[in-house]
Amino acid sequence: MFSRRRLAKVAPFLLGAAVFLFILAQDRSPTTSSLVSTFQGLRRFQRNSDLVPQTAGTQKSIGNSSKTLVVNATKIKTNDRSKKKESDAFDARKLFDARKLFDGREKFNASGKPSEAHPLFPGYIIKNPELCGSGKVDILLYLHSAAEQRVRRRAIRQTWGSSHTFTDISVKLVFILGLPSDRVNQLRVQTESASYGDIVQGNFSDTFKNLTYKAITTLAWINEHCAQARYVVKADDDMFVDMFRVVTDLIPKTAGNRFAMVCDHKESMAIQRDERSRWYVSEQAVPSRKNWPPFCPGYFLVFTADLVPVLYEKSFESKTLVPIDDAYAFGMLREGNITVAISDVHNIICSNRRPNPPEELKANGKFEYVSFGVSKAEEHSQFWSARLLKLSPWEQEHSTYFKTVQLPNGEPLIIA
Ligand SMILES: *[C@@H]1O[C@H](CO)[C@@H](O)[C@H](O)[C@H]1NC(C)=O
Ligand SMILES: *[C@@H]1O[C@H](CO)[C@@H](O)[C@H](O)[C@H]1NC(C)=O
Ligand SMILES: *[C@@H]1O[C@H](CO)[C@@H](O)[C@H](O)[C@H]1NC(C)=O
Ligand SMILES: *[C@@H]1O[C@H](CO)[C@@H](O)[C@H](O)[C@H]1NC(C)=O
Ligand SMILES: *[C@@H]1O[C@H](CO)[C@@H](O)[C@H](O)[C@H]1NC(C)=O
Ligand SMILES: *[C@@H]1O[C@H](CO)[C@@H](O)[C@H](O)[C@H]1NC(C)=O
Repeated sequence: MFSRRRLAKVAPFLLGAAVFLFILAQDRSPTTSSLVSTFQGLRRFQRNSDLVPQTAGTQKSIGNSSKTLVVNATKIKTNDRSKKKESDAFDARKLFDARKLFDGREKFNASGKPSEAHPLFPGYIIKNPELCGSGKVDILLYLHSAAEQRVRRRAIRQTWGSSHTFTDISVKLVFILGLPSDRVNQLRVQTESASYGDIVQGNFSDTFKNLTYKAITTLAWINEHCAQARYVVKADDDMFVDMFRVVTDLIPKTAGNRFAMVCDHKESMAIQRDERSRWYVSEQAVPSRKNWPPFCPGYFLVFTADLVPVLYEKSFESKTLVPIDDAYAFGMLREGNITVAISDVHNIICSNRRPNPPEELKANGKFEYVSFGVSKAEEHSQFWSARLLKLSPWEQEHSTYFKTVQLPNGEPLIIA
């Protein structure tokens, strides 16, 4: 289909996308950092004006929850030959059938154990049980966030976390929060939840040492309220995630496996026993071990949803809180009688902030990493806008940002 469309000929147009946000620089929240998400080598991001569209956009509402996402087509003359090369490179994907990956998986059988009976389940403050609804959920995207990170959440909803990115893949987004220390922030969380319906809040103080309550709350919530999910994508709210490549590059790695995880796999990381360390774990919390079992760091991972009831049930055996959420949820809880197929993708995901992702896009047609750290909420829209200018033919075909119209001379034209 695509070769006949002759995209190379057709595409002297690139599309400009602009997202308008009032965003202040945000500090990295201490409550969303997982074990391996250290921020070394912080470098100032240099704005790349080439990739930021010059014209303001016409308002185009893409679904209810992203009303401020603004897209406008901007004609940019490109070199036809480089365009041709690019579309050839992507041709390998033209037959990629994402639906097979999702439809080939069954709805998981939820555990019947009630969360109230869980030794460590903290209880819900906000539950939003209808979030997943009764339809298909191909990807449940859940992000650890904290009450005060409203700006990050808004930026993510409007960009890569939107449920409206794909025409034919159902994505649901949920933010997992604990309790803030003040009433004002709590009231704002409740207002935000009433507007967007995408927040789950557990009854625990949102501190670094309490992060494992977030993991347990999430497992309980997915098990109870989103058993139709096929895949789960987990990240922190200071990560950028290229959802197109999650679908085309990461999810296919799980094909054919019952329980599977795709992550920056840690085979044998020492448990930090030095009390001065941020990651200190007492002998009491995790006795008689020197190392963590192999685990997936929580800054970003993809896993098959069939793992949810298994990890959830296993967590009933925990009597003390293991303060490192990812080593616990994506390591200790998978120990035992299941085999998890691991795809280690440490070379294409990265918890650190990238020096200049739009430059990578310009040079390679894609970001070096499928997911990477961001330090300012406005970067979500910057990087997403840049990414939308570089969608492959497959991505264009499956994205709501594009549609193809027939020109009078019979040639197709892709427009926003
Ligand atoms: C959208 O782009 C067109 C040019 O392609 C321009 O004429 C129009 O003014 C733009 N819309 C807005 C709101 O700037
Ligand atoms: C979107 O908004 C319309 C009206 O504004 C409403 O009828 C519909 O239920 C909304 N859909 C969702 C998914 O919220
Ligand atoms: C759920 O349970 C049914 C009945 O026991 C079984 O046939 C099905 O394979 C199970 N599904 C999964 C995903 O394990
Ligand atoms: C939250 O937990 C506290 C005890 O830590 C309890 O007093 C309170 O009732 C709980 N709130 C809800 C809404 O369950
Ligand atoms: C969470 O952390 C706070 C302070 O670190 C602590 O006082 C509290 O007991 C912890 N547990 C819950 C359930 O909030
Ligand atoms: C693991 O073992 C427990 C008890 O030994 C059993 O109830 C459970 O179904 C097993 N899980 C799987 C996925 O086989």
